[in-house]
Amino acid sequence: MKKITSIDLFAGVGGMRISLIRAARKLGLNDECKLYSEIDEHCKKTYEKNFPNTKLIKDIKSIKKKEINERISNHDILLAGFPCQPFSKAGVSNRKFLKRAHGFDDKDQGDLFFNIYEILKVKKPRAFILENVQNLQSYSNGKVLDEMLKKLRKYYYVPDPKILDAQDFGLAQRRRRIYIVGFLEYHEKFIYPEPTLKKVQVKDFLDRTVDKKYVISDKLWISHQNRRRRNRKNGKGFGFKLTDPSEKCTRTISSRYYKDGSECLIFRGENRNPRKLTPREVFRLQGFPESFKFPVSDLQAYKQAGNAVPINVVEKVCFEVLKYLIKSDKFWLGKVS
Ligand SMILES: C[S@@+](CC[C@H](N)C(=O)[O-])C[C@H]1O[C@@H](n2cnc3c(N)ncnc32)[C@H](O)[C@@H]1O
Repeated sequence: MKKITSIDLFAGVGGMRISLIRAARKLGLNDECKLYSEIDEHCKKTYEKNFPNTKLIKDIKSIKKKEINERISNHDILLAGFPCQPFSKAGVSNRKFLKRAHGFDDKDQGDLFFNIYEILKVKKPRAFILENVQNLQSYSNGKVLDEMLKKLRKYYYVPDPKILDAQDFGLAQRRRRIYIVGFLEYHEKFIYPEPTLKKVQVKDFLDRTVDKKYVISDKLWISHQNRRRRNRKNGKGFGFKLTDPSEKCTRTISSRYYKDGSECLIFRGENRNPRKLTPREVFRLQGFPESFKFPVSDLQAYKQAGNAVPINVVEKVCFEVLKYLIKSDKFWLGKVS
């Protein structure tokens, strides 16, 4: 195996692709992404700026079962960080509040797993890597995850999924995500990557100079503090989080960070309003390289960075998956007993 081919589903801005490329390079492999799927025009703009000329399928749901073979290219690895809102704590409570369906019953975003499954069934790539929120594990008492695994295990060797946290892999962000990998050929137990436990601090990810537009207004700062008081009184959590640059990690930065920055306001000293992270800092906290371009508004950039995968973690998962495939080649060629 000299070249690894992939498809990048629910690609966002290509976090999984960057991770796979990095892992492949470390193993001396070339890579080719055969296509990506993404419905959001702003993500598409960022993706194309960083990965020009990749074939695009906008809405994965537009591909009917009988068209899969023809419209989806053959590939070795399927990557999919599929939408998490139907399963995330915040997404579920928001949907309940709006009396909207969640989980698999959300016919817009919650059933996209089945589109992945149909592609796996027809195209049979050698491996897949799926990523979602940690809450997928406990959502509906684990029944949804069980159903996913039952389906995937019809065709694939799927070890038990693993929750990995970005802060254990050299990123100063707490971001616990579930990873599900699978292989067409079994030859030995797959082991998920061990944490690197590299010691970092939030300040390692911050810009040296920051435009004053990121300092929050008096009005927003007062509203954050008032909400915290109300929340405390009602026993409803803490509201905003003031983060000192010397701390070892921020809270999880979500795609709603642009709204008020409540997950992480950078402390600038007593009697000074804190500031929001810049979009570049959020991308950095997700492990994106400095060369990564995002030709979109701040609002869109925050959404894209908050929706992305933590590259350092996914790179390690990809590395282990590629190693498993390489070993599998040798196994099937009879070189490993
Ligand atoms: C959690 S984000 C993935 C982020 C990506 N892994 C990254 O690192 O940037 C899920 C993405 O799926 C896209 N999406 C949602 N429904 C889709 C559909 N039906 N077809 C294609 N993409 C879709 C969303 O626009 C969103 O960008």
